[in-house]
Amino acid sequence: MPYERIDFVSAASGEGITSKLRPCIFSEIVVKMIEFPDGFLWGTATAAYQIEGAWDEDGKGPSIWDTFAHTPGRIERAETGDVACDHYHRYDEDVAIMSGLNLNAYRFSFSWSRLLPEGRGRINQAGVDFYNKLIDSLLDAGIRPFATLFHWDLPEALEKEDGFRRRGIVDDFAEYAGVLADNFGDRVKDWITLNEPSVYTFMGHVFGVHAPGMQDPVAAARVAHHLLLAHGAAVPVLRSSEGARVGTTLALTAIEPETDSDGDAEAARYAHALQNRIFSDPVFGLGYPKEALELIPEPPVEPGDLEAMAPEIDFLGVNYYTRTVVKHGPNAPFKFIPVAQPGPRTTMEWEIYPDGLRNVLVDVAKTYKPDKIFVTENGAAFIDPEPVDGRLEDPDRVAYLKSHLTAVSQARDLGAPVEGYFYWTLMDNFEWSFGYRQRFGIVRCDFATQKRTVKDSGHFYAQVAKANALP
Ligand code: FCB
Repeated sequence: MPYERIDFVSAASGEGITSKLRPCIFSEIVVKMIEFPDGFLWGTATAAYQIEGAWDEDGKGPSIWDTFAHTPGRIERAETGDVACDHYHRYDEDVAIMSGLNLNAYRFSFSWSRLLPEGRGRINQAGVDFYNKLIDSLLDAGIRPFATLFHWDLPEALEKEDGFRRRGIVDDFAEYAGVLADNFGDRVKDWITLNEPSVYTFMGHVFGVHAPGMQDPVAAARVAHHLLLAHGAAVPVLRSSEGARVGTTLALTAIEPETDSDGDAEAARYAHALQNRIFSDPVFGLGYPKEALELIPEPPVEPGDLEAMAPEIDFLGVNYYTRTVVKHGPNAPFKFIPVAQPGPRTTMEWEIYPDGLRNVLVDVAKTYKPDKIFVTENGAAFIDPEPVDGRLEDPDRVAYLKSHLTAVSQARDLGAPVEGYFYWTLMDNFEWSFGYRQRFGIVRCDFATQKRTVKDSGHFYAQVAKANALP
């Protein structure tokens, strides 16, 4: 089936008019209907630190994000995730909202230090209880849980032992995966080992704007390598529980050269290697791209590592937000120069570029041939008005959803096996170093009262999910 059905309807000649449209007074109408296959997953995505709050309740150990956010100067307006959306206490209400929006999947992350306060060893039963309640309530509502193991909030206890810079963390991660499989594997069947290892590596260890706030490229190369090994070690552990499907989530950016000059093409190769292929190539058994190795310190590869990073996976999770246009920059630090584009942007300053989502999906499908792809994050922050009589109009986000879902459908028609879409994010939440200023939710969260209000975009998304089609 083509990705869109377009019927041109002329009121003048009557040609092509369907009986349903005949009474319409417009001289020309374009009807577009984009359909998704049966079983397509419609979800939202969240992360523990960004929504849970209860940062030191019921035996939870601190994570590096607790430490980072509590350090003066790190987060805008000194905001923290101490309370966030208070989802730890309000998960029931949040699941009910998802259910009311007709969603059939939900991507969340486990807080490692809520379950293993010291990062290994002792299990915190209250943490297990919380996730049991959340998972049961999702399943009761017919919502399929997709669980991320690591969405950046490393237990502080492990950071004190050098975090992901220490090779031994691979064993800790495998132990953590085992705890999850043992406690939740009877009900959680879809697992995501890592969220955006590139962002954790670079923002946390090169630019220092995310926890743990380091600026040390040598450390970053170690972190990248150990993240990949940790992924590799967790996959067989998770897969050992019956019916488990395991994948990982990468942040992928559409890279485009500014012109078709050879210099710009070279810049695009470096940008693609550094921003995308540095993780996707090793995950799919291709090892590190040579262009990336020219740009970063040598990762500490030992014999057998490249195979250990590349166990077979069941799906690839793609997080897509924007593109990067680059021009020749042989003397720039990473051999490319990003070129700002004049197009419309979100309040994150990210260009709105839906074609990039299609291109990224088609590109990874062709390059790595994953069995399945899920868009595990895609979304937009805008300045929203206050709700009026319970309604919040956010037309920009509705338009963003429409254009990006169209791109997903186009990618499917071009052969990318995309089987689900998770909008980032369910409700406005703690957006890392920006604090609460950046609002991505299809549900508004009033952080003073914790009142949730479904935005117009939420109602729109609910219609899409119900119809399994884009009107
Ligand atoms: C992604 C993160 C997610 C959220 C969005 C806006 O990089 O995975 O937690 O912050 O960006």
